Amino acid sequence: MSNTYNVNRKYSQALYKRAKEVMTGGVSRNTIYRRPHPFYVASAKGSYVTDIDANTRVDFANNMASLIHGHAHPAIIEAVYEQMQRGTAYTLGSEVEVAFGELLVERNHNFEKIRFVNSGTEAVMSMIKAARAYTGRPKIAKAEGAYHGTYDFAEISQIVKPNNWGDIDKPNSVPVTAGTPENVKSDVIVFPYNDTERTLKLLEANKKDLACVLLDPVSHRIGMFPIEEDYLIAIYNWTRKHKVLLVFDEVVTYRVTYSGAQHLYPVKPDMTALGKIIGGGFPVGAIAGDAKYMSVFDPTRKIIKQPHSGTFSANPITMTAGKVAMELFDRKAVDDINNITEIAKKQIGEAIKEADVPVIITGAGSMFRMHLRHKAPRNYRETYQCPEERKLIVDFLDYLFLHEDIIMINTFACMLATTITQVEVDRLTQSLLKGFKKFKAEIHRFAK
Ligand SMILES: Cc1ncc(COP(=O)(O)O)c(C=O)c1O
Repeated sequence: MSNTYNVNRKYSQALYKRAKEVMTGGVSRNTIYRRPHPFYVASAKGSYVTDIDANTRVDFANNMASLIHGHAHPAIIEAVYEQMQRGTAYTLGSEVEVAFGELLVERNHNFEKIRFVNSGTEAVMSMIKAARAYTGRPKIAKAEGAYHGTYDFAEISQIVKPNNWGDIDKPNSVPVTAGTPENVKSDVIVFPYNDTERTLKLLEANKKDLACVLLDPVSHRIGMFPIEEDYLIAIYNWTRKHKVLLVFDEVVTYRVTYSGAQHLYPVKPDMTALGKIIGGGFPVGAIAGDAKYMSVFDPTRKIIKQPHSGTFSANPITMTAGKVAMELFDRKAVDDINNITEIAKKQIGEAIKEADVPVIITGAGSMFRMHLRHKAPRNYRETYQCPEERKLIVDFLDYLFLHEDIIMINTFACMLATTITQVEVDRLTQSLLKGFKKFKAEIHRFAK
C-alpha cells in the first residue's frame, strides 16, 4: 500500500486538503490524482521533478508525453519570454503561427494545410466534424478501447469491460460519460483493432453513413503496439473504394518518426490530428491534411461548411514554444531518442529475464508500455486488465513513485524526452528489476 512507504508528504498532504475544498476530488485533471493524495511540484528541469516536500524524481511520463525536451528547456523558455513581452494573444494573426504552420507542413508531405487548436481533444473533434462536413454523412468508425480525447463521439467504447463489450463480431458502442445521448452511440461504429475480417464487415454494413474511419497507428490505450500493416492497408483500400475518409489520431504518435507514425506505413491519411509535443510544453492541437478536406474551414468560401475559431487557437506563446521544440526535434534528435529508448527496452528485457517474470514490452519510437503477459497482445480485449490486475499495476507504480522516485504513465508506460541519458535509463532498469522481484508472485498470477 502507498502509505507504507516512508516518503516526505507533509506539504502535499496539506495542499490537497485545500484543493479538496475548491476542486471536485481535489483535482482539475483526474490523471494527477493518486491515493491517498496527489503530489505537488515545486520545480522541474530536464528529466527531474522536485515536489514541495523536496522529493526529486526521474520523469518518464513528461506530462503525458507532451514534453519532448523534458522540463524548462532553456531555448524554449528564452523564446517564450521574448514573445511574452510583445503580447500573449491578439485578435489578429501573428507571423510565428504562419512560420510554425510552414514548418509542420514542410515536415510531412501528407499535410497540405494545417489549422491550430488548443488540445488533442479539440483536434480530434474538429477533424471528425470536418469529415462529416465534407462527406455530409453522420457516422464515424473507431477501434474498441482506443483513446482519442473526450469528445462524445471519440469517447465511445474507450473503456469497456467483459460485461459490456458485447460480441466481438459486433462490439457494443459503450459511452464513457453518463447521460451520453443515444444517437452518439448509434453514430459510432466500434470495430476490433487488428481484425481485418470483422472490421471490414462492420464498415461494409455502414458504408452509406460513414464519414470517416478514425485510427491511431500505435494506440497507447489498446496496448501500444503498432497497427498491423496488412490490416491498415485493407482499411485504407476499403475507404478509397467507398469515399470514406481515413483520419489518423497522431496526438501521441507524432514523435515516433520525424513526420509521425504514419510514415511507417504505405498509406496516406486524409487528415491527421496532432497535439502534445508540437506545443513545446504549452496547450496545443492541430488538424492537418489534404487541402480539399481542410477547405471546410475556409472563411473565403461562399459557404463555410465548418466555421472554426477558438479564442486561444494559434496563440503566439504556444506557436513560439512549439516552433522551437519542433526545430530542436530534428532528424538526429528523433534518431537519438529512439535509440536510447531501444537501449532502455533491451535493458528492461534483460531485467525481466533476470527476475524471471512474464512481462512483455510493446511500443514504437520513444514510447513503450509493459504488459503482465506471456505473449504480446494484439487488441484491446487481450490487453484488458481485470480489477485485480489493475490493482497490482497501481501498487507497482506506487512502489516506483514512492520508493524508487520514478514517474511513469499509469498504463505502465514510458514516454521519453530528449533529456533522458544512459544514467536515467540505468536507474529505471534497476528500479524495475527490484519491482519485478518484489511483485514476482503476483505478476505470475495474472500473466496470461
Ligand atoms: C491518442 C490521443 N488522442 C487525443 C488525446 C487528447 O489530447 P488532450 O489531452 O490534449 O486533449 C490524447 C491524450 O492523451 C491521446 O492520447
